[in-house]
Amino acid sequence: MRSLDMPVGFGLISRLVLGVFRPRKSILGTELAGEVVSVGKGVSKFKVGDQVFAFSGAGMGCYAEYKCMPEDGALALKPTNLTYDEAAAISFGGTTALDFFRRGKLQRGERVLVNGASGGVGTAAVQLAKHFGADVTGVCSTANVELVRSLGATHVIDYTKEDFTRNGETYDVIVDTVGTAPFSRCKGSLKERGRLLLVLGGLPDMLQIPWVAITGSRRVIAGPAAERAEDLRFLAELAQAGEFRPVIDRRYPFEQIAEAHSYVDTGRKRGNVIITLKHDH
Ligand SMILES: NC(=O)c1ccc[n+]([C@@H]2O[C@H](COP(=O)([O-])OP(=O)(O)OC[C@H]3O[C@@H](n4cnc5c(N)ncnc54)[C@H](OP(=O)(O)O)[C@@H]3O)[C@@H](O)[C@H]2O)c1
Repeated sequence: MRSLDMPVGFGLISRLVLGVFRPRKSILGTELAGEVVSVGKGVSKFKVGDQVFAFSGAGMGCYAEYKCMPEDGALALKPTNLTYDEAAAISFGGTTALDFFRRGKLQRGERVLVNGASGGVGTAAVQLAKHFGADVTGVCSTANVELVRSLGATHVIDYTKEDFTRNGETYDVIVDTVGTAPFSRCKGSLKERGRLLLVLGGLPDMLQIPWVAITGSRRVIAGPAAERAEDLRFLAELAQAGEFRPVIDRRYPFEQIAEAHSYVDTGRKRGNVIITLKHDH
């Protein structure tokens, strides 16, 4: 959003929505964790001192010391076994993977492949697919094989050595978080009635969706993931039960947020990058 680096075909519409000359919202950042310092009259779900995490999504404004949110917004109590850093990292990948699996009607026992299994969405998708009883294959580079295995993937494919679309294996669900597995490339790896979940898909991929649905049993699912408070609560319960743990790569103090963004822009982060803020109350 900051650099308007959007999937193919979404540049113009994103510019109109997010700001023509500069970001419409001057404070970016879509997720946070912290302590409630004040509540409005009539607020009953949260009280001062509650440790919470939240997902403002397109509303942004989370790169800040303070953030005002509605009590019915995507806001939940922090799992007590997670640090604030870990809790801040629940929302982005967790809600995205959860929403795509819901729309893709993932079933227990299905074979799932996650392309980009070491990223923010990928590390969440591997853990959630495993939790839902799927047989999970993760695709990542050599350096991340052990990480992806530790998250619950039964099989890990190192994309620098093997092309998953050419090894003869087929899957019920393929999740693409990288943009390198469009339907044209991976249709042969999808079983009959298989679903391709395009977390990162361009306009041409989306325009294909009706045609794919009319001409065969496979489906392509794309578009923005929903931001729901109940999903945050579900992820918090999973985390509390030790079934879901956000992966953190690096932490940067707020003053080095530009360096943090430069690192994220390399496209090589493992899981999530955290911005830490000092608090003095
Ligand atoms: N549709 C939605 O609502 C929605 C919601 C959230 C995010 N997104 C989009 O989803 C995308 C993923 O976000 P993210 O934060 O998860 O990304 P990310 O963390 O920045 O992804 C980095 C990871 O991608 C891996 N990677 C890079 N090239 C790869 C390749 N060719 N094959 C497999 N893995 C590769 C890297 O691993 P290696 O170093 O091992 O290569 C690295 O771990 C973003 O474009 C984001 O905008 C969409």
